[in-house]
Amino acid sequence: MEYKQLEQLLKDMSLEEKVGQMVQLPAGMIAKEGLITGQVDNLHLPKEQKRLIGSVLGLTGAEDLREMQENFMAEHPHHIPLLLMYDVINGMETIFPIPLGQGCTFSPELVEQAARVAAKEATAAGLHVTFSPMLDLVRDARWGRVMESTGEDPYLNAELGKAMVRGYQGSGKGEALDLAKEGNIAGCVKHFAAYGAPLGGREYENVELSERTLREDYFPAYQAAIEEGCVMVMTSFNTLNRIPSSGNKWLMRKVLREEMKFDGLLISDYSAVDEMISHGIAADSREAAKLAILAGVDMDMVSNAYIRYLAELVRSGEVEERLVDDGCMRVLKLKNELGLFENPFKDGSVEKEMEILLCKEHRNLARKMAAKSFVLLKNEKILPLAKEANGTVALIGPYADTVDMFGAWSFPKKPELGVTIKQGMEAKGVVPAVSKGCFIQDEDKQAKVGQKDVYTEEELEFLMKEAVETAKSAETVILCLGEHREYTGEGGSRADITLPKHQLELLHRVAKVNKNIVTVVFSGRPVVISEVVEVSKAVLMVWMPGTEGGNAVADVLYGDVMPEGKLSMCLPRSVGQVPIFYNKFRTGRPNEEGTRVGFIHGYIDESIYPLFPFGYGLTYTDFVYSEVKLSKDTMTKEEAVTATVTVTNTGMRDAVETVQLYLWDVTGSVVRPEKMLKGFQKVSLKAGESKEVSFAITEDMLRFYNIDMEFASEPGRFVAYIGSDSSTKNGAEFRLV
Ligand code: NOJ
Repeated sequence: MEYKQLEQLLKDMSLEEKVGQMVQLPAGMIAKEGLITGQVDNLHLPKEQKRLIGSVLGLTGAEDLREMQENFMAEHPHHIPLLLMYDVINGMETIFPIPLGQGCTFSPELVEQAARVAAKEATAAGLHVTFSPMLDLVRDARWGRVMESTGEDPYLNAELGKAMVRGYQGSGKGEALDLAKEGNIAGCVKHFAAYGAPLGGREYENVELSERTLREDYFPAYQAAIEEGCVMVMTSFNTLNRIPSSGNKWLMRKVLREEMKFDGLLISDYSAVDEMISHGIAADSREAAKLAILAGVDMDMVSNAYIRYLAELVRSGEVEERLVDDGCMRVLKLKNELGLFENPFKDGSVEKEMEILLCKEHRNLARKMAAKSFVLLKNEKILPLAKEANGTVALIGPYADTVDMFGAWSFPKKPELGVTIKQGMEAKGVVPAVSKGCFIQDEDKQAKVGQKDVYTEEELEFLMKEAVETAKSAETVILCLGEHREYTGEGGSRADITLPKHQLELLHRVAKVNKNIVTVVFSGRPVVISEVVEVSKAVLMVWMPGTEGGNAVADVLYGDVMPEGKLSMCLPRSVGQVPIFYNKFRTGRPNEEGTRVGFIHGYIDESIYPLFPFGYGLTYTDFVYSEVKLSKDTMTKEEAVTATVTVTNTGMRDAVETVQLYLWDVTGSVVRPEKMLKGFQKVSLKAGESKEVSFAITEDMLRFYNIDMEFASEPGRFVAYIGSDSSTKNGAEFRLV
């Protein structure tokens, strides 16, 4: 449709019709009744109002969505199609590793490819918009939604966020944005802003951050994805410095629209408009609607504040109609960009769904990505395992033979088509002796959705004893432990982020009879696994690896694929260290050793360092780094300096290393972080091979919010570190003049 036609359409619409476009309701259960097939209905709204809405969330499937769209359009006065949205977070039917695991790939290429596959599957299933990427920076592993983030670093999050946008919207490799094209889905950056910093990691808790921290650490990833062309943004649930995001004019109108130049559709989070009543800044739903529209929220997800009160607010003169026109126009524009006026079903097709959902090509990519997201934390010459040791491997633990490795935000319709670790090993000709050992959850704990493992003491003891017997007669034990997936995700915050106590008991009982333990840890967050690391000979973090998890784990354990993942968040030693992250500030009393003696920075009873730092990850070979060489020791605003290292693979196997560049601004008008990731490169090195790896350091990489809140660099001393993780001390100094 031409823009002029859209303008005409807007003119032809009544106030109620325009407001309707700004409303999203949930599909709910499919009850073939009423106006919309997926019953849009816990809201008890009159049918006349419901038939005007602009969007529905939460239903997939080409057939159902087609029927819904047809029914809806037939009843709509202008036959305007619905925008159909869904949470496609780490895949639609082919499930990829959770975003936290994707972060550990340090691979924008793979992340883009995975998003591309998700987009193709989701559009075939009839969808138009995915509520992804989630670009909340997270420093507190207790927060349940840490699984949905690519981690703790602003630069890494921004690079991977951009990759997701390219993958979803099909604008990779310099292609212009064309959302109507087959396989392209609209992305939605969320949750604006700073939802990842709730106090104490408590879900929906308030966020208090200085403007400098927000701008320097929390905003960049959102901004990068917007600059990459992401067409939607979602507000966050939290208050930010005491103002709920959905009513925060400064955040939405000044920062998002004016500064970040976001011109797309701004949707609230689920019922976040009405939640301003609970927060205590709106007396009722009417006032909440007013606050949201004044702040610039174009679409109200589920609250029913807009549908009930927006037209009335305009008629009473409290809200200018122009604001409704703006919001409605953004919805119409997005529908038009998606080509929905010409083809309201977009790519939804039952045949296409059958053809591509979970197809071999998609599964292969999921397997490849999963293997590359695993982080090898420890290996005392036990991995890779030899396939020939057939029959002598014990596969123990509640994760040994389950497909449930999808993570908290994945809803595959055919979960049974996932691959368990047992199946992954068997596919390699290895037949392990399998024993469950215990349940995923302790009997006194339960996951957030109320699911509970129900068992008696006797049953548990039986499983434990059986596992110990299995371990006794094996040469090697692969122990598969981890969190329940519902211990993470929305509403999944935990105060104690260790593994369930029965799983730790299992570890110790097995260790008494067999020392050759390789522990595979499943989790949706950086769990505290100090005990596990101490007792095991090798530890592999596999997060929630998705559909092909079992094959990928077997690939890495047996050395068919070399591990190459690097931690996208620090792994804490103990819960008391949380929040812990690498890019922190120096104190007035630094503590290089990390353990405190006297009046210096730190704890009396704990190190200040994590168990494993950001960027850390081993493989089945060793890399040696040369000293950092700089092309010159002074740089100017115009002329970059190049930092170079030679990396040598000193082991016996070909492998990939992720070489990381960190910068330290030694003195500034405000205190600067000790290290900031500013670049990374994946380098393939054959056994014995050396390669030079260089990074150009340009002036823009040195900018920050100075004492006057200007984003600028300051002349002075800097250190460029290049190494294998964020704890590297391999640095060289230069000056900016
Ligand atoms: C609430 C979540 O915070 C958000 O991330 C999600 O996209 C919406 N619900 C829709 O499911």
